[in-house]
Amino acid sequence: MSVGIYFATTTGKTEDIADRLHKLLKGSNPPKDLAELSDLSEFSSLDGIICGIPTWNTGADSERSGTAWDEVLEEIGSLNLNNKKVAIFGLGDSSTYTENFCDAMEELHSYFIKAGASMVGYVNKDTYTFDESKSLIGNFFCGLPLDEDSESDLTDSRLNSWADELKIEMPGLE
Ligand SMILES: Cc1cc2nc3c(=O)[nH]c(=O)nc-3n(C[C@H](O)[C@H](O)[C@H](O)COP(=O)(O)O)c2cc1C
Repeated sequence: MSVGIYFATTTGKTEDIADRLHKLLKGSNPPKDLAELSDLSEFSSLDGIICGIPTWNTGADSERSGTAWDEVLEEIGSLNLNNKKVAIFGLGDSSTYTENFCDAMEELHSYFIKAGASMVGYVNKDTYTFDESKSLIGNFFCGLPLDEDSESDLTDSRLNSWADELKIEMPGLE
């Protein structure tokens, strides 16, 4: 069983979280920067994929991340990822961008669904303070939102709980 961690970043925060997550998840591969990947063929050889995506294009319908993820969305949608477990974490700012909190997660989520992936790691919205997010499905975010700008004191506990959940939902992690 192998689980890959992939991130894209503009100011380094998503990379930092990817590194912290890797340390919490024995059995995960060292994080890779999507911007340095020539194609996504290695996704097919993995059992699980964890993706970190920040939101930069505030209010946009498409290409919400403003990072390398935007360039590979169509490619992800065209893959066959049946039987793969996929989890997403998103970086955003729930205070300054409270009407678009972590919007990019949902866009990535929709392309992985298109590819047939089995999505895990949804998170209840109750402990977050924000007005709107495109990444909500009912009461749940379609991944783990993190806010290193306004709520960095909560990141450790959010990350720890999520890592514990992934250990249950993704085979190969301990
Ligand atoms: C110009 C600008 C636009 C942003 N837009 C959003 C947004 O729409 N939604 C959100 O949740 N965060 C938004 N953010 C916050 C970033 O997503 C946040 O700082 C994130 O941690 C950056 O991650 P990175 O360092 O990996 O690029 C924005 C930040 C800036 C400076």
